Amino acid sequence: MKLITTITALVFLASIQTMAQKTLADATKGKFLLGVAVNSQQVDGVNPIETELIAKEFSAIVPENCMKPQPIHPEENKYVWDSADKFVAFGEKNKQVVTGHCLIWHSQIGKWFFIDADGKDVSPEVLKERMHQHILTVVGRYKGRIKGWDVVNEAFEDNGTYRNSKFYQILGKDFIKYAFQFAHEADPNVELYYNDYNVETPAKCDAIVQLVKELKAAGCRIDAVGSQAHWHMNSPTVDATETSIKKLKDAGVKVLFTELDISILPSPYDGANVAANFKYSKEMDPYKEGVPDSIQQKWNKRMLDMFGLFLKYNDVVDRVTLWGLTDNTTWLNNFPIRGRKDYPVLFDRNNQRKPVVDEMIKMAKKSK
Ligand code: XIL
Repeated sequence: MKLITTITALVFLASIQTMAQKTLADATKGKFLLGVAVNSQQVDGVNPIETELIAKEFSAIVPENCMKPQPIHPEENKYVWDSADKFVAFGEKNKQVVTGHCLIWHSQIGKWFFIDADGKDVSPEVLKERMHQHILTVVGRYKGRIKGWDVVNEAFEDNGTYRNSKFYQILGKDFIKYAFQFAHEADPNVELYYNDYNVETPAKCDAIVQLVKELKAAGCRIDAVGSQAHWHMNSPTVDATETSIKKLKDAGVKVLFTELDISILPSPYDGANVAANFKYSKEMDPYKEGVPDSIQQKWNKRMLDMFGLFLKYNDVVDRVTLWGLTDNTTWLNNFPIRGRKDYPVLFDRNNQRKPVVDEMIKMAKKSK
C-alpha cells in the first residue's frame, strides 16, 4: 500500500515537473532565448491557433517582413508603422524579447533609396544621409522596447568578398560602419548585430570576423553576429558550424542563430539570397504526400546535432530563432522554387509540435 502511495506521489511529481517545463522555451531558459519569426497575419490573429502557439512556445520574436526597409519606408518621406507597431505591442503583451530585423539590406528596399529625381545614383553624401534618417527614425521609434537590431544584413558573398550592392557601390565598405554608428546614436542601449547566411563557410566566416575587428577598432558597438542558419540536409556540416561558433567567440561577440530552418528538400542552391529563383520540377518536390520515416529520422538527427551545439556553446549563443512557426507558413515552400512542400521547422502542417521537440527538451534539461 505504502509503495503504491509512494509511486503515485512520484508519478504526480514527475507530471508536475513536465507541466512546468512543457515548452522548449522553458527548457532553454537561462541558456538562450528561443525565438520565432512572426508574420503580420499571426500578429493580427487571423489563425488564432498559430497566434497562441507563438505566444506560448517561444520566448522571443522577430518580424518576418514588416520592419524591412521596403515595407516600413516605401518612399523617401513616407513611413508605414501600422504592422511594426502591432508587432512590437504583441511581443510586449506576451512578455517576449523583441528583436528588430533589419535596417540595412540590399533586398526588400525601395529603389528610391539609391536614386535621385532623374533616376541617377545619389552621391555618397546623400546615401549616407538617407541611411542616417532611416535608422534614426526606425530605431528611435522603438527605443527602449527592442533588445537588439540586425543592423546590416548580408553584406558578404560566400567567398568572403563584399557583395556588390548599391550600398557598397556608392559608399564602399564604410556603409557598414555608418549603419552601426547611426543605430547606436539612435538608441545607445540597444544591442547591434551583423546578420548573414552561410556563416559556416570558412571564407565568409573569416570575412565577418575581420569586419567585427574593424568595427571594434573604429569604436563601434557590435554585440553579436547572427548566423541565419537556413540549412540543408547535408550542409553545413556540424564541424563547420562548430568552427564558425569558435571563431566568432574568439572575436569577442555573441552568436545568434537568427533564422533557423533545415530544408528537407533537394536544393539547386545553398544560399539564402531572396532573389534566387529556380524552375519547379517534380523531382525537386519529392515529399508532396508526406515525408518517409527514414528521411524524417535523418532530419531529426540533424536538428538534434545542431541543437546539441547550441547547448554546448550556450555561454556565447544568446538566442536561437526559428524562421517560421509551421511547415504550412514557412517561406521555404516558395524558396528557391515556388510551390513545393518543405518541412523545415518545429511545428507541422496541423499546428502540432513535432516529436523531435520532446527530444530537444530532454537534451536541454540534461545540459549544464
Ligand atoms: C524572407 C521572408 O521569410 C519572406 O516572407 C520574404 O518574401 C522574403 O524574405 N534572409 C533574411 C530574411 O534575412 O529576411 C528572409 O526572409 C529570408 C532570408
